[in-house]
Amino acid sequence: MSELKEYKFSYRELENDSLLNKEDFLLLSKARTATEKAYAPYSNFFVGAAALLANKEIITATNQENASFPAGICAERTLLSTITSLYGAIAIDTIAISYNKQDGNSDRPVSPCGICRQSLIEYESRVKQPIRLILAGMQGKVIIIDDVPALLPLNFSADDLL
Ligand code: THU
Repeated sequence: MSELKEYKFSYRELENDSLLNKEDFLLLSKARTATEKAYAPYSNFFVGAAALLANKEIITATNQENASFPAGICAERTLLSTITSLYGAIAIDTIAISYNKQDGNSDRPVSPCGICRQSLIEYESRVKQPIRLILAGMQGKVIIIDDVPALLPLNFSADDLL
């Protein structure tokens, strides 16, 4: 017997950043400003990520590329590594992710790549608290996602190793 299983994914889309509350707007602003620190001479795609931690601190990070392309790392994984190196397994309330390009065209949200989704899920399950995501370009629509595992159905996890 075969059974068709369905997967439902819900997220919130805002017309622009003026609809964010003050705390979320500040976090997104930090992610946007952080894009200036990205090292992306090969893709010219400058990503900034900002995390609001359980202790109310905000940590930012950026993508860091390399002439040996696969050695580059995304902003999201740089961020998680920085946070856990500084604080250990501290809960992350929200992560805002933004980007800029050489042509300045950044008017729609982009979402984390597959490897980053996997890393975000690992972090969530380690600290046992969901991470909210706020995704936006330098302007335009904003997407809010309440829980990262929703972005990666049937994800591989520690349980699979048992
Ligand atoms: N990148 C990120 O930093 N985060 C993402 O979610 C997607 C892609 C980086 C990797 C690379 O440095 C550049 O953006 C282009 O792929």
